[in-house]
Amino acid sequence: MNHIQGSLIYEGKAKRVFAHENPDRVLIEFKNDATAFNAKKRSLIEGKGRLNCKISAALFELLELNGIPTHFLELHSERSMIADKVNVIPLEVVIRNIATGSLCRETPIKQGTMLSPPLLDLYYKDDELGDPILTERRLSLLDFISDIQLKEVEEITRSTNKILKEYFDSLDLLLVDFKLEFGTNSSGKLVVADEISPDNCRFWDKKKSDPKERILDKDRFRQDLGGVIDAYEEILKRIEKQSSHAI
Ligand code: TMP
Ligand code: ASP
Repeated sequence: MNHIQGSLIYEGKAKRVFAHENPDRVLIEFKNDATAFNAKKRSLIEGKGRLNCKISAALFELLELNGIPTHFLELHSERSMIADKVNVIPLEVVIRNIATGSLCRETPIKQGTMLSPPLLDLYYKDDELGDPILTERRLSLLDFISDIQLKEVEEITRSTNKILKEYFDSLDLLLVDFKLEFGTNSSGKLVVADEISPDNCRFWDKKKSDPKERILDKDRFRQDLGGVIDAYEEILKRIEKQSSHAI
């Protein structure tokens, strides 16, 4: 253990959160564990932690450059980052540009339908309940977020989607959908938290038309398609190629 990493505060399915010498910060370590379907499916994927940490760091930096507040402060190692310590809001905010996944399982909307404007779905973050989808009325009954803060969460999610969609388009990737989590830091500021990686985004390779081959995200694991780590590597490779061009 090094001087800035303190005791384990929380262990989730894909990350461990450690105390930091600065009480307003934490150290987040990305694990190689992969889970899906509320952890009913589990595996260890060597290299996943490093890839998700580096991809998330690059995307948080991109968002910060574009005025989106995030919890990210700096990379600590290839598999860990320093971030604001936040009070997590128990919401999973999903925004969808193209219909797939649960939207097509739960409604008659056809796979691949373009969603314009993008569809924003709110889920209650609770593993034991299986992260149920929320209605506006259920959300107000639960009473854990004000109308003003919810509006801010939705605005940040839509702006993040615009920035990331355009960015991934330039990498020949379609940003199909993704999930964000939010928290408030020690100053009470609302920030994007958790991670932004192929674990919580769907990416389709624009250069491929085969519906399975084009998948470059955790759906490869969910659907047993193989090549999970190669897909994650490909996402990082395209991000790194883009940033070397930008310099
Ligand atoms: P869904 O189609 O299964 O509802 O997933 C929508 C997006 O949210 C997709 O990019 C994967 C991501 N996601 C998570 O990050 N965590 C989850 O627990 C679930 C169900 C989805
Ligand atoms: N994140 C959830 C799990 O780990 C579900 C998913 O990503 O499919 O079970």
